[in-house]
Amino acid sequence: MEERNKTLGEFIIENQAAFQYSSGELSRIINSIRLAAKVVNYKVNKAGLVDIIGAAGAQNIQGEDQQKLDVYANEIFIQTLINREIVCGIASEENDEYITVEGNDNCHNNKYVVLMDPLDGSSNIDVNVSVGTIFSVYRRISPVGTPVTIEDFLQPGINQVAAGYVIYSTSTMLVYTTGHGVNGFTLNPAIGTFYLSHPNIQFPKNGIIYSVNEGNYVHFPQGVKDYIKYCQLEEDERPYTSRYIGSLVSDIHRNMLKGGIYLYPTSSKSPKGKLRLLYECNPMAFIVEQAGGKASDGLNRIMEIEPKELHERAPFFCGSYNMVEKAEDFMRLAKLSKY
Ligand code: AHG
Ligand code: MN
Ligand code: MN
Repeated sequence: MEERNKTLGEFIIENQAAFQYSSGELSRIINSIRLAAKVVNYKVNKAGLVDIIGAAGAQNIQGEDQQKLDVYANEIFIQTLINREIVCGIASEENDEYITVEGNDNCHNNKYVVLMDPLDGSSNIDVNVSVGTIFSVYRRISPVGTPVTIEDFLQPGINQVAAGYVIYSTSTMLVYTTGHGVNGFTLNPAIGTFYLSHPNIQFPKNGIIYSVNEGNYVHFPQGVKDYIKYCQLEEDERPYTSRYIGSLVSDIHRNMLKGGIYLYPTSSKSPKGKLRLLYECNPMAFIVEQAGGKASDGLNRIMEIEPKELHERAPFFCGSYNMVEKAEDFMRLAKLSKY
């Protein structure tokens, strides 16, 4: 028989066997995310089309179809995880409070909580530019059999047991890690199956791409300004190439395959940065580190930050190991020269 790539389903089963004492819960979570991703992918691909259909029979279009895609994606991921009764709690960018999952079978017996950004880069939807979903999985701290507590969600990134993203683009991919490297799966839309297309992804140690919203330049801290000027200097492989999509998932995905750095620093406009620590920075940091890259807040490792709030923000420097290190040098230098 002709050799073919492994499917995500086969990969999950194979890896499940490798965890001797695992109950299969984590595998079932990844499986649910796989399913929800396919549903959201279908909807993302129809974005715009719904408007065309709507124009022909505007009166008949009900609220459901007009829901913003990030609300829709949120519902799909939450419902899939709840229906399958595999997590005890969910936190999402779209919900102020975390959700305690209660099912017929007393779902409190489950071990894991999931945190997510159901639709990342949602402002890109209307203009046909790629978007994503980000997820992060932790083992609960509170005892099994009781309702989840906020402490189950406020864990540092180093406690993550799995993290991943889905990128909905020219092709749709699911990329994830369980702490044993990073693997990427591409969806064959004709048959609705993800195939292992990017085994053991390695973040190039160096790169020539820098990704930052330079429109905010005047508001950036001095260290970031200095680093950007360094990127633009004519020397060695510089000036680097500037690439900024405005979807964290897409920008980091590209940089991870090609080599590059992504920056979302603090600014005088957003003194804590913009990105959310728990469901944007931490999961991306886990993936990036697992691929051999580096993720920090400019001075400290992102995954070691002790979170205080569900929706807290953090500055984010993430990408090729040596590039992030260089950016951190500039941050430290600027901090020192302030005193
Ligand atoms: P979200 O769509 O989940 O709110 O996230 C958008 C984020 C991130 O994806 C992106 O990198 C960043 O916002 C872009 O922000 P700017 O428009 O300020 O550059
Ligand atoms: Mn986001
Ligand atoms: Mn979002």
